[in-house]
Amino acid sequence: MTSWKYYILHCLVVTVSVTALIKTSDSADNGCTSPPITTCNECLYRGPECGWCFQEGFLDGAQINERCDSVPNLVQKGCELEFIEHPAVTVEVDATLSSTQVTPREITVKLRPGSETSFVMELRQLERYPVDMYYLVDVSASMQDNLDRLKTVGIALSQRMKEYSSDFRVGFGSFVDKPISPYINVHPSKISNPCSDYDIQCRPAHGFIHVLSVTENVTEFTRVIQQQQISGNMDTPEGGFDAMLQAAVCQTEIGWRPEAKHLLLVMTDQPSHLALDSKLAGIVVPHDGNCHLENNTYTQSTKMEHPSIGQLAEKLLENNIYSIFAVEQVQYKWYEDLIPLLPGTYLGKLQPKASNLKDLVIEAYKKLLSDVEVEVVVQDHQVQRFWVNITALCPDGSRTQGPTKCSDVRPNQNVFFNITIGMKTCPSHEEEDEVLIFIRPVGFNESTAVRVRPVCKCLCGERASCFGEEGGSACQDVGDDGPGQARDCQPAGMGPDCSGRGTCVCGKCACDRSSLGTIHGKYCQMDDFSCPYERGLPCGGRGQCVMGECQCVSGWTGERCGCPVSPEACLSDDGTICSGQGSCICGRCQCDDPQRYGQFCEKCPLCNGSCQLHWRCVLCHMSHDFSAVGATECNRTCSSTVRYVDDIPGSMGDNSKRCLYPTPERCHCRFQLDSVQGVTEILIGRHPECLSSQRYFRTFTLVFLLTLLLGLSIIALLKFLLIRRTQTPSESTVAVFHVTNKEKSYVPTTSEKTITYRRDQPHEMHIHVHKMALNEGWQ
Ligand SMILES: *[C@@H]1O[C@H](CO)[C@@H](O)[C@H](O)[C@H]1NC(C)=O
Ligand SMILES: *[C@@H]1O[C@H](CO)[C@@H](O)[C@H](O)[C@H]1NC(C)=O
Ligand SMILES: *[C@@H]1O[C@H](CO)[C@@H](O)[C@H](O)[C@H]1NC(C)=O
Ligand SMILES: *[C@@H]1O[C@H](CO)[C@@H](O)[C@H](O)[C@H]1NC(C)=O
Ligand SMILES: *[C@@H]1O[C@H](CO)[C@@H](O)[C@H](O)[C@H]1NC(C)=O
Ligand SMILES: *[C@@H]1O[C@H](CO)[C@@H](O)[C@H](O)[C@H]1NC(C)=O
Ligand SMILES: *[C@@H]1O[C@H](CO)[C@@H](O)[C@H](O)[C@H]1NC(C)=O
Repeated sequence: MTSWKYYILHCLVVTVSVTALIKTSDSADNGCTSPPITTCNECLYRGPECGWCFQEGFLDGAQINERCDSVPNLVQKGCELEFIEHPAVTVEVDATLSSTQVTPREITVKLRPGSETSFVMELRQLERYPVDMYYLVDVSASMQDNLDRLKTVGIALSQRMKEYSSDFRVGFGSFVDKPISPYINVHPSKISNPCSDYDIQCRPAHGFIHVLSVTENVTEFTRVIQQQQISGNMDTPEGGFDAMLQAAVCQTEIGWRPEAKHLLLVMTDQPSHLALDSKLAGIVVPHDGNCHLENNTYTQSTKMEHPSIGQLAEKLLENNIYSIFAVEQVQYKWYEDLIPLLPGTYLGKLQPKASNLKDLVIEAYKKLLSDVEVEVVVQDHQVQRFWVNITALCPDGSRTQGPTKCSDVRPNQNVFFNITIGMKTCPSHEEEDEVLIFIRPVGFNESTAVRVRPVCKCLCGERASCFGEEGGSACQDVGDDGPGQARDCQPAGMGPDCSGRGTCVCGKCACDRSSLGTIHGKYCQMDDFSCPYERGLPCGGRGQCVMGECQCVSGWTGERCGCPVSPEACLSDDGTICSGQGSCICGRCQCDDPQRYGQFCEKCPLCNGSCQLHWRCVLCHMSHDFSAVGATECNRTCSSTVRYVDDIPGSMGDNSKRCLYPTPERCHCRFQLDSVQGVTEILIGRHPECLSSQRYFRTFTLVFLLTLLLGLSIIALLKFLLIRRTQTPSESTVAVFHVTNKEKSYVPTTSEKTITYRRDQPHEMHIHVHKMALNEGWQ
């Protein structure tokens, strides 16, 4: 006995030391250092290889995140091992719990987020076990034959089992279905005797009735069986799973012995209802997985749903139940699909009249015991945080991954399971400092409890505060820096420490590292990335970024330092700033008059003195042929002084502007604007061509109007004549177009059109439209 225990412990030691040294190789881009972090706790989350150096003065003036790195890197950088917080992954075996089949029974592992550990679990089947077998029999009408068979099989089976078991006991329970509509007939006469139609006495349908607790008195068993009566229900599937769950969890009522192998023999000829089936009967409460027997009757049958397969599997495993399905040929396939979902299950074909029942049970027992399999049970809400990998090391030397099972294991042979448990993340609730994971061998009355203690906090944080974590206080604890050193982490003693972007270490700021750029400055107030960009550079490359605002070098100003301070860029040719029409803002002219534009506000087509403003006036004068009458008339549209001249003078004064005005012939006639003491004077050239064009234009207009008038008169005349004609009743216009028979033959009676519309292939469609004969009237 002792020798194999040593072997196990030896294994464990090897595994632990291997795990502790995992991934110690250094790499420049390891996950510990980037992105930067500032506390020891965060460092632990980084991965099992990361350590936190809390040595005072480590890497003098280094950024705080340099303290988190892989252990060899930290040592290389000069941190002494005793100052490195690097909680190891450990495994402790509780050797005080004795066991006969499963070793170890209890194990405690400490895991860091992202780390894993392995240990070996040993299992062995004993030579002989006490065996408790519980017959769970479907007593719906169709099972009469099987029930009869059971009356005789009891004694024979007990005798056969003596070869395999030290002590064999049997029990009995029956089930039908949920006694509620639509599963049973609820006619009053049918409730007490569902078989009344056939003149047979049946018992009422029931969810589950426990009849006989496991006993070694086979005479008693036979006596009870003989008293059994069949029952009846309506639908094909029965409530088998409901009854199985009760048989599994009602330990004391059934009388399962803790030291015995538990066999649950389910005999049925129909499939079972599944979890959601009972919604049909209005039952919506999910099964709670507990025992509900009162006076040996399952009381919640009509109140709770059928259990789900997962729930049933869990309860069978928890109560170390091996289930044996003895089903008839017809439903064999249905159960075959189900077996992989239920651990420790054997499926056998029941011959007619259950003739092979004895052999089936013996076969099942041998098979179930020769399969050694483990299952992992983790509390529901913890499942996401752990992963468990199991490798079975079978006695025949094979190693199987995935199906964690060894087959053909003989009694007294050892089976090893290499179990690797990894923790992905720390628990969300701080108080959950221990998580229980069970490794349950299927059908064994013992299991291994793994207590996982997550290591999510630095120990140095418990002692005082890790260096760097709390700045000043750690400094004084260590005492090196001297308490005389004033704390200087806030500008003017206000605002957050180190502008919220660094950590106060010994009264000085250690700025955070950012992937965007560098943070620097006495209070970490400066950086090179959070300011407005100009030409792809922060602050246009002409300033420094301080607290998100640009501080420009001299000569430049503006939010992005994009504005020259000197107004040189705004000086127009005449030496004035923006032609005197605006101000120089950020090296650009901002014109006072919104109508002005141009680099120096020099352009203003609509301003006073501009040509367009006076077109109306000039056109007015032109339309009056520059006559005296016109001059007076146009005084209304022209606000300026108008002078007619023969020609626009060749030379212009400074306050003059020459304009062209459009005429219908696009002949460009000219006028000139003069500014005389602030008043605009218009000089219009009286060019002959401008005049003639004007006359021509007028003549053209007159001719057009006359033509129009003439046309209208002709139309009016015609209309008058037509109206008069239609009013004469004697002859209709149709008669005028009377056609002869010969001509008729030429008039097609249908017209044919070919329409092509798009498709993958052009497709022609013919439409026939009946054409009305000429003298045919509308119906
Ligand atoms: C076994 O059961 C029978 C019938 O129920 C009873 O007469 C007999 O005394 C029991 N035997 C023992 C050993 O309990
Ligand atoms: C499990 O079964 C074995 C063998 O029958 C027995 O020796 C042991 O005491 C049982 N363990 C428990 C916890 O009941
Ligand atoms: C259980 O049986 C006892 C005695 O026979 C009876 O008084 C009690 O009402 C029964 N309980 C139920 C729930 O049937
Ligand atoms: C479990 O082991 C297999 C084989 O070694 C491996 O491929 C798989 O990734 C492991 N699972 C986990 C979660 O580590
Ligand atoms: C158990 O599995 C782990 C991880 O796969 C491996 O490192 C270790 O060597 C295995 N232990 C044994 C004893 O096979
Ligand atoms: C045009 O000139 C008149 C008088 O000279 C002045 O009252 C008016 O504001 C000017 N308009 C513009 C747009 O400059
Ligand atoms: C037009 O009116 C102004 C005053 O409004 C007047 O001085 C001028 O003589 C008039 N021009 C003509 C041609 O009548």
